[in-house]
Amino acid sequence: MSEVNNHQVRLAARPTGLPQASDWSMAEEPIPTPSAGELSVAISHISLDPAMRGWMNAGASYIDPVEVGDVMRAGAVGCVLASEHPDFSVGEYVYSDFGVQEYALSDGRGVLKIDPAIAPLPCYLGTLGMTGMTAYFGLLDVAKVRAGDTVVVSGAAGAVGSAAGQIAKIKGCRVVGIAGGEEKCRWLLEELGFDAAIDYKAQDVRRALREAAPDGVDVYFDNVGGEILDAVLTRLARGARIVICGAVSQYNATEGVRGPSNYLSLLVARASMIGMVVFDYAPRFGEAAREIAGWMQEGRLISREHVVDGGVSAFPETLLKLFSGENVGKLVLRVDAD
Ligand SMILES: NC(=O)c1ccc[n+]([C@@H]2O[C@H](COP(=O)([O-])OP(=O)(O)OC[C@H]3O[C@@H](n4cnc5c(N)ncnc54)[C@H](OP(=O)(O)O)[C@@H]3O)[C@@H](O)[C@H]2O)c1
Repeated sequence: MSEVNNHQVRLAARPTGLPQASDWSMAEEPIPTPSAGELSVAISHISLDPAMRGWMNAGASYIDPVEVGDVMRAGAVGCVLASEHPDFSVGEYVYSDFGVQEYALSDGRGVLKIDPAIAPLPCYLGTLGMTGMTAYFGLLDVAKVRAGDTVVVSGAAGAVGSAAGQIAKIKGCRVVGIAGGEEKCRWLLEELGFDAAIDYKAQDVRRALREAAPDGVDVYFDNVGGEILDAVLTRLARGARIVICGAVSQYNATEGVRGPSNYLSLLVARASMIGMVVFDYAPRFGEAAREIAGWMQEGRLISREHVVDGGVSAFPETLLKLFSGENVGKLVLRVDAD
């Protein structure tokens, strides 16, 4: 019998506004043992996503809510610890929605094999994982970017935004990033090759866009919603496409989501605003990951992961970094201790 237990973070209450420590409970269980057709996984890294805030709410969305008392849903990577499943062997590395815990039991459905020789494990939660897929399909399939387009990306120094902006550059677009703070803006310009960067915490976005996108915005990849969406709506070029990827500025709103008041610009610009959910593209993830990995190998796309140590007990406070903007690149929690 192992003396090590499986530490977990469970949803204790549905939050109002920003999640509080009291919305979580820490639990401990014996490490699961697989039965026939199952595998167990020792989790090494857990993905932190703004969408987690939505999963904590009751009510229908694109995915079922996490029930109070359940282990918090999370994408994670780890190593197969024991296997009674014909397709998985001990020592293989895998990704799935294993949850905020140290060990997971799975029947193999939705489990993907990953190769740490191609990229470090946290990268499979970011650029080679869900956020990279979101950037790729949002830009290429939903916005259908073309060379010469002016593409504006909000949340530009985050996981999805930094990948989206770089893919737009690879496709020959002029790219303007909107992010919070001088340091993030410098990173976009100096390391990622963006053409312009707007610090929404220090600048008037509408005025700054006039300079950064003098011919108007052909594609707006929106990760934040709220006031920034409204500002971009005033600068649309004819035929503009707005991808509604997310609205992180609204996820903790206590008085309802702020909708865009400048939406009549869509009429004037003959523009469209299209929502997307990355899971719809799951059958094509392999194809996208191969192309993204190629760009990384060629040095054309930089993947940055913001890895926080501290194990599952650090999950509640680490999640809040997404809403205060403390992360640069993909926020990941490291679970294994060595
Ligand atoms: N549709 C889909 O299928 C799909 C899939 C994955 C992710 N998403 C969405 O994509 C967006 C980005 O996700 P991510 O995982 O890449 O997170 P992220 O951008 O790495 O992290 C969140 C960032 O949001 C910014 N932010 C927080 N509060 C803000 C506010 N009030 N106003 C403006 N910016 C704010 C912060 O950067 P600053 O310092 O710049 O403020 C923070 O670093 C989210 O909206 C997420 O829900 C959608």
